[in-house]
This record gives sequence, structure tokens and C-alpha cells, in this order.
Amino acid sequence: MKPISALSSLYKSALQGPVALSFASTALTASLLGLSLSSASAAPVAMPTHSDANSELVNRGAYVARQADCMGCHKEDYSGGIAVEAPMGTIYGTNITPSVRYGIGKYTEQDFKNALTKGKAPNHRLYPAMPYPDYKGMTDEDISALFAYFQTVPAIDEPPAYKTDLPFPFNIRALMLGWNLVNMPDWKAREGLDETQKHGQYLVDNLAHCGTCHTPRNATMGYDMKNYLSGAMLGTWHAPNITPDKASGIGSWSEEEIVTYLREGGVHQKALAAGPMSEVVMNSTRYLNDKDLKAIASYLKAVPVVTTADTVQPVNVAALPKKHSDDIAINLLDQMDVLKEAKAKASSNSESLYLAECASCHGINGYGQPDAGYASIVGLTSLRRDNPAPVISVVANGIHQVVNTRPQMPGFKDDLTVEEMAEIVNYVRTTFGGLTESKVTADDVANQVKAGPQAPFIVKNAGWLAALGIIAGLVVLALLIRWFIRRR
Ligand code: HEC
Ligand code: HEC
Ligand code: HEC
Repeated sequence: MKPISALSSLYKSALQGPVALSFASTALTASLLGLSLSSASAAPVAMPTHSDANSELVNRGAYVARQADCMGCHKEDYSGGIAVEAPMGTIYGTNITPSVRYGIGKYTEQDFKNALTKGKAPNHRLYPAMPYPDYKGMTDEDISALFAYFQTVPAIDEPPAYKTDLPFPFNIRALMLGWNLVNMPDWKAREGLDETQKHGQYLVDNLAHCGTCHTPRNATMGYDMKNYLSGAMLGTWHAPNITPDKASGIGSWSEEEIVTYLREGGVHQKALAAGPMSEVVMNSTRYLNDKDLKAIASYLKAVPVVTTADTVQPVNVAALPKKHSDDIAINLLDQMDVLKEAKAKASSNSESLYLAECASCHGINGYGQPDAGYASIVGLTSLRRDNPAPVISVVANGIHQVVNTRPQMPGFKDDLTVEEMAEIVNYVRTTFGGLTESKVTADDVANQVKAGPQAPFIVKNAGWLAALGIIAGLVVLALLIRWFIRRR
């Protein structure tokens, strides 16, 4: 397998610079023909944060940091500055290196525990963009290991590039005390779980905090536990239903497929972890050992079934296109010829559009070049869902990866008309999703492009609620004054 990983690192290094320019040509070299170089890799990826020179406790902490995906928001070097998009504004991960001035160099282990489990930094309240409602259930052993590990991380004596600056009333951090009162979850082991599943629950709920994206929120932005893990909007992304419902969830997935998905970022002819989920895989789940991934999979099979309206049509493998070729030794010129030939033979306008706009990365038959990060889009759940909105959004807005060694997908809303985007979306849903029909209209696309993320009640009405609060305060004040005057 040596030449393959060499090839893949070559792609990665070629993509680190100004990416846009190198896209099409780099992708062309292998993706056109739908070559899949990835073979089922059984082992987790070796962790760059592990060192034999460190104590066992520190290395355990490095692993817990992967399980809990601290890098996802605090950046690979923990210097902070990664944006967490909350409906009320952008909240940035802070510097959590042992820098005394900018990081957590002065924290005691108790301070660290308070930040993780109560959202309480030594001098202020944290926003729940830091998943302390989930980490609340972390064991003391895991917290101690994490604390030991963070002492060994190189200190970065710089403030993060971006600082959180939310509008009134959300800039009043003490308000989070009220939020905590209403919304801190009460994590309890589910009944009827075996030991493996109990461990899975701990990972899903507390360390890996899968619910932050997959569980919908209620009006006050706390977890809607009745719809636990049944899917939620994330800006223009949709985190799907991952309860074991056969029609709208992952009931048809085997445990092995769940493990493969979390380790490799996709399942052949079935699903892809793109966008926010790809970051979860890249920073966290691909490093997890078999025991942990199997526990997660087994637990996800045991959570209560929630049926949502967003049905996934079963994959019809026989109807999916075949790979053009398995031969990886085809040179660039031949591939250009293949694309040219395919374009000349295109039998519909939508096929021509796909070949012109998408095939350089996803291949003429949709199999892409997964080993280099150019996703195969054949058979994906996202293409088989009744709700086409997330796919429309991907085509319109593209996919911007925080992990910058991964190729990005450009958005097409400035280059294509809404009619053209609708045609392409219908083409990929039927050709690669295997749907018998797809009736996305230009209006659907226009609406999706216009519609921003849906903000929950409390945020949409924040100004109004704050005004109401002030009025309530004035009324109380007036009553007090009247009472005071009468007493005299
Ligand atoms: C989903 C994103 C996210 C993840 C995952 C996350 N954090 Fe945070 N964290 C944040 C944000 C955002 C803040 C700043 C919150 C604020 O400004 O109120 C923060 C703040 C903190 C703070 C307080 C520092 C300070 O004084 O500002 C500590 C300590 C911390 N995180 C540690 C961790 C550790 C350890 C992990 C992994 C176990 C982790 N975080 C995982 C988003 C995250
Ligand atoms: C940062 C947000 C986020 C977090 C955290 C997250 N997910 Fe996801 N997840 C997503 C998104 C978005 C998708 C859709 C990806 C796509 O269609 O390309 C997804 C897709 C999935 C799918 C595929 C579902 C399907 O029908 O195709 C599974 C399974 C999954 N996630 C499991 C998990 C597990 C287990 C965890 C915790 C270890 C987790 N996710 C944490 C956002 C997230
Ligand atoms: C420059 C390369 C490039 C081009 C051009 C491109 N894509 Fe992509 N596309 C990607 C990459 C890379 C991903 C996976 C991103 C990730 O892993 O987060 C992706 C992912 C996708 C997905 C999967 C979304 C999901 O979550 O399941 C779909 C569908 C898709 N692309 C469709 C298209 C269509 C349709 C076009 C043409 C209009 C197109 N792409 C053009 C690079 C490209």
C-alpha cells in the first residue's frame, strides 16, 4: 500500500497552498475515471499527538482529547480562533494551551474541571458553544488525564486571531447561569444496555458530543431530548437522523458500516461524511480504537427509534453507474480524452452540465478519487433523501473545510443559473442516488440560496425578549416605588 499513501500525501501537499487554482488539474490526474484507491483499512490512524516520551497518563489524555474532539474548535495546536456558528452570532474557540497570558496556564485542575463540566472559567461564564453540557458527564479520571496532557502541549503566547463579540443581550455572560438552570442535561445511563453499549453511550453523549449536531434544539436552545439524535439543521447543513429508524435514520446500516463510516469518512456506495462531519472524522473518530468505535455503533443501534419526515430511499445498487476503470496507471492526457469523449457523447443537457462542472473532481461516473479527498458521490444517503435542501445547498454554497489539507468544493451559485443548478441536482440524485425521479425546481434552488439558517425562537426574538425584560423590570420598579410611597 506504500505507493498509494505516497500518492495521497502528494495530493495533500499540492492542495495546501492557494487551493482554488490547483483544484481542477490535480483532481483530473486520477479522479476522472472514478478510481478508488482506498481499500478497507482496518486499523485506526496513528495519532500525531501520542509520544512514547510522555507518561501513560499524558498519552491517555491525548487520546481523550481525540475522543472529545477538543481540536475541532480550539484548532490543531489549541491556539483557538475556530468559529462555532451559533444562531446568535459567531463564538470562537479560545487559546487552551498552557500560555499564562493567553491560555489556561494559571488553571488548577479544579478550574479545568469547572470549565469542562460547568461552563465556568475562573473569571467568567462560558457560552454553551463550548460543549460543557455534554462534558458534564465526563469521568474524573478522564478529566485528570486531559489536564495532565494539556500541561504538555506547547504554550502559544498569542491571542486567537478572532474574538467573540456577541450582540446585546447575549454579551451578558451571566445570562448563561439562567440558561444552565433550564438546559443542563441530566445524563443517565439508559436502561437495558450491555457494558459495550454503556461505554458507547458515554462516548456519544459525553466525550464525542454527537448530540451537539444530531439532536435538535428546543426554543431556548437546549436539547430536545424527545427527539434525541433524530437530526438537526446546522446552518445550511443538515446533520441526519442517526437513530435506528429504517426509513429516516440509520436502521439499515450494519454496525460494521457505522464503524467504517466513522473511521474512513464514508461507506462505499452508501454514505459520505462531508462538511462538519468530515471534520469530526478527521480530528477525532478516525483515531479511535476498535473498542470505542464498536461501542458507539452498538449504542446507536440501541437508542430509541425516532421517525422523521425526511425519508431515505433504499439504495438500489444495481441501478448505480459502474466505475469507468480500476486501472490507476492511466496518464493525464488519456484522462482528458476520456472526459472529452464523455462530453461529446452526453445524451442530455443535464449530463453535459455535470460533466462540465463536476466531473473533474467527482469523475465521469461519480466515483471521484476518495484517497485524495475527492469524494465518491455514488449511492450517498444525502442524494437519496426526500428533502433535497442539503444537496442544493452543497451545490450552491460549496463545502469549506476547516481542515485545510483537504480539497474544498467550490459553490456554484455565482457561476450557474438556478435552472442549471436544479438540473444538476436532479441529475446527481437520479444518476448517482439511484432515485427514480427528482423534481427539484429552479424556485426550490432560489429559495434555498436565499434562506439562511433557521434561528430558534429565543434568538429570533432576542431583541423583543430583552425589551420585554426591561419593561418587566420597570413595572417591578414602579410597584416598589408605589409600595414605598404608601408605607410612608
Ligand atoms: C464544539 C466546540 C468546542 C469543543 C469540541 C471544545 N471546546 Fe472548549 N471552548 C469552545 C468555545 C467556543 C470556548 C469559548 C467560549 C466562550 O467564549 O464563552 C471554549 C472555552 C474553553 C475553555 C475556557 C477557556 C477560556 O478561559 O476561555 C476551556 C478550558 C476549554 N474550552 C477546554 C476544552 C477542552 C479540554 C476540550 C476537549 C475536551 C474542548 N474545550 C472542546 C468550544 C469548544
Ligand atoms: C459538528 C457537527 C457534527 C458532529 C459533532 C457529529 N456529526 Fe455526524 N453528521 C454531521 C453532518 C453535517 C452529517 C451529514 C454529512 C454528509 O451528508 O455529508 C453527519 C452524518 C453522520 C452520519 C451519516 C448519516 C447518514 O444518513 O448518512 C452518521 C452515522 C453520523 N453522522 C454519526 C455521528 C456520530 C456517531 C457522532 C459522534 C461521534 C457524530 N456524527 C458527530 C454533523 C455532525
Ligand atoms: C474542485 C472539486 C469539486 C468540484 C468541481 C465539485 N465538487 Fe462536489 N465535492 C468535492 C469534495 C472535495 C467533496 C467532499 C467534501 C468533504 O469531504 O467535506 C464534495 C462533496 C460533494 C457531495 C456530497 C455532499 C454530501 O454531504 O453528501 C455532492 C453531492 C457533490 N459534491 C456534488 C457536486 C456537484 C453536483 C458538483 C458540480 C456542480 C460538484 N460536486 C463539483 C469537490 C468538488
